[in-house]
Amino acid sequence: MKTSVKGRNFMHINDFTREELMLILETTRELKLESQRGLFPRYLEHKALGLIFDQPSTRTRISFELGIQQLGGYALYLKPGEIHLGKKESIYDTAKVLSRYLDGIMIRWNNRKEMQALADAAEVPVINGMTEDNHPCQALADVYTMMERFGSLEGKKVLFFGDRTQPAHSLAMLCSILGIDYVQCAPKPYHILSEWSEPILENCRRSGASFTQTDDIEKATRGAHMVYTDVWWWIGQEHEVEERRKAFWPYRVTEDLLAACDKDVIFEHCLPATRGLEVTDEVMDGPHSAIFDQAENRIHTEKAVMVLTMSP
Ligand code: CP
Repeated sequence: MKTSVKGRNFMHINDFTREELMLILETTRELKLESQRGLFPRYLEHKALGLIFDQPSTRTRISFELGIQQLGGYALYLKPGEIHLGKKESIYDTAKVLSRYLDGIMIRWNNRKEMQALADAAEVPVINGMTEDNHPCQALADVYTMMERFGSLEGKKVLFFGDRTQPAHSLAMLCSILGIDYVQCAPKPYHILSEWSEPILENCRRSGASFTQTDDIEKATRGAHMVYTDVWWWIGQEHEVEERRKAFWPYRVTEDLLAACDKDVIFEHCLPATRGLEVTDEVMDGPHSAIFDQAENRIHTEKAVMVLTMSP
């Protein structure tokens, strides 16, 4: 398969054009249809993918591990602390050695600079399975789930409640490239910072999308087609739990909040969720919820990324 994505790393949404991102999403649709018909063409026969994690994972690990196997390849799961990477061996040396064994590397690493150093030295595609500030694979599944539910992304508005988490950064970036309006609704201290908002706004100028941040829930919900939320604290923020719980409580996603949005609104969450905090059980299990389709779509979007980047 010859594409402009072939042989490239998948590190950051903003490394790709609208056309390249749409190619990944369209390839996702084809792969999902094939798998629903029980067809699993061996697009990556005998290709080996290394899966490096410095944190636990359910969706990312399973979708990549199973995904490469469905494509005819092999997965090596390298769990936290299992290989030398920056300790006892330089990132550069590890990248060079892994490139002699593997055809691709998927890495979840809580240090974007170190992940980039690995990608710069590697001679095979490196796929970002989440850093401390972005989660590009998640954003693909988030938007693909919208495509599936709505048929088209035209005129759609995404509303993200809560903290500027990794999925928020990557989803806002993807929306800004694809022309989807995006609203971040949270108390001001938790708004997306300029390192991310400036390139997002630059993309919006080209795509015609809007990117806004507000703490006004009533204004934000008007006409929203997709409501998203994420956990209120993350690794290293445990000492802020009480202040975050208080700040985000008015922004938790409830059925009343969804009732103020577009009548066909869907609810998404990257998962894992803290039921009863950022979102109620009624919303998680209710008629607007797309969370389990979204989780399933991780395997289809990630297979598309692997096929397009790793194909011979
Ligand atoms: N959403 C997500 O990346 O889930 P995992 O942490 O389970 O991989």
